[in-house]
Amino acid sequence: MILRRSLTLRLTCFFSIATMIVITGLSWFINNAVENHFIDQDRILLNNKTHVVKSVILAGNFNNDFSKIANEVDKHNGLIVNIKNPQTTVYSSGGIQFPSDTLLAKQLKQDDLFQWQDNQNLYRGKQFDLTLGDAEHSLLIVTIAININHHQQFLISFEKTLVKFIVLSGLLSGVFGWFVTRQGLRPLEILKEHARLVSMKDIEQRMPVEKLPIEIAGLSITLNNMLERLEHAFNRLSDFSSDIAHELRTPVNNLMTQTQVCLSQPRTVDECLAILVSNSEEFERLARMISDMLFLAKSDNELILVSAEDIALEQEIANLFEFYDALAEEREIKLKSQGQATIKGDRLMLRRAFSNLISNAMRHSLAGSDITISISTVKDIVTVAIENYGDTISPDDVPHLFDRFYRADKSRTHNKHEGVGLGLAITQSIAKMHGGDVRVCSANGRTLFSFTIKCK
Ligand SMILES: Nc1ncnc2c1ncn2[C@@H]1O[C@H](COP(=O)(O)OP(=O)(O)OP(=O)(O)O)[C@@H](O)[C@H]1O
Ligand SMILES: [Mg+2]
Repeated sequence: MILRRSLTLRLTCFFSIATMIVITGLSWFINNAVENHFIDQDRILLNNKTHVVKSVILAGNFNNDFSKIANEVDKHNGLIVNIKNPQTTVYSSGGIQFPSDTLLAKQLKQDDLFQWQDNQNLYRGKQFDLTLGDAEHSLLIVTIAININHHQQFLISFEKTLVKFIVLSGLLSGVFGWFVTRQGLRPLEILKEHARLVSMKDIEQRMPVEKLPIEIAGLSITLNNMLERLEHAFNRLSDFSSDIAHELRTPVNNLMTQTQVCLSQPRTVDECLAILVSNSEEFERLARMISDMLFLAKSDNELILVSAEDIALEQEIANLFEFYDALAEEREIKLKSQGQATIKGDRLMLRRAFSNLISNAMRHSLAGSDITISISTVKDIVTVAIENYGDTISPDDVPHLFDRFYRADKSRTHNKHEGVGLGLAITQSIAKMHGGDVRVCSANGRTLFSFTIKCK
């Protein structure tokens, strides 16, 4: 559990294990090389002695006179010789129990060495057979061996040293690994220190990318981007709250002042009625603003269910034109529509979005101009383009146009006929709920809003 949570501990263990694996492999090779070296030495010695014993026997001196052979055996400490004919042992030095040599003689090749244990002693030997002329010793099986206890003892103590060395190297590399890992992870401490400084009051704090190594710089760039987005969202939220306060304060003040003025002296019924009518308009505006804010809050939290019914867009536009007909006539504006498309979407929401775009266009069009709505389809995207002629939106305003409470004219005079600046924010959130978007371009008095919807 701790291992899973502590990176330092994990890397330290990896270091130790990796070092131990490498050293164990190396030790195995060294141990094998030493053992092979001993075997080679033994082979050279045994070959020499074989040569001598063979020449003694073949020189004809072998006539139950073992003194020459015994001489050779004595010259080398630990050397033993055994000579047998198939039935009996003819000569054996040192009273050592030999392995079943007849069996071995069949199995061994010319240069093979074999090893066996007799009591506490370990021997390495070689065997060969000789065919002689005399009838008594026609076939001799000769075994020459040396005691390899000293080799074995050396190998055992060498192996013990290697094991100690492996454990020690594991421990030492663990300590070094821990130190190196801690040093290596120091940049994370710097990151932690800077992250600790980020707060609501100091949201502009960023991670010091240039002070960090490249491996962590990527992470800190991602963190900085996240902080950037959070700062933007945080600022929007703070602006939104202060905008709400500002937008609500003015109509409420108006209502309060008007009511207090009305109450300050006796009024006729007509005067009271006029004030009530004015108040009712202010209440209507307030109610609309609150319901718009509620809609945006719900859409932010994805709490709005979007129904998917078939909608003939040209028909919806025609219905909205009917609604705006009287106003358009009053301002001598011609409403024109072209193109058609049927999509799946939420009728009420789309009506609200198009209604806002048309009412904006009406508000900002020159008297006597045209408002044209064109419906077109490219692949699976349907575009409803609303074009009008009148006020130009400055390029500085375009990036903020879809922000809540943003009005390009900046005058927050609460003209009853002015909007509150939530319409385009709502229009955009409706477009996004339908897999589309809203874009605007405005130049030389021509303003074009393109509302796109993705066909499902
Ligand atoms: N067709 C247009 N021509 C010129 N300016 C426009 C046009 N449409 C919108 N705008 C500008 O964009 C601003 C934001 O529009 P939006 O619909 O969000 O708010 P609103 O119409 O002022 O208020 P609301 O729609 O909430 O009643 C408007 O205040 C206006 O300045
Ligand atoms: Mg509007």
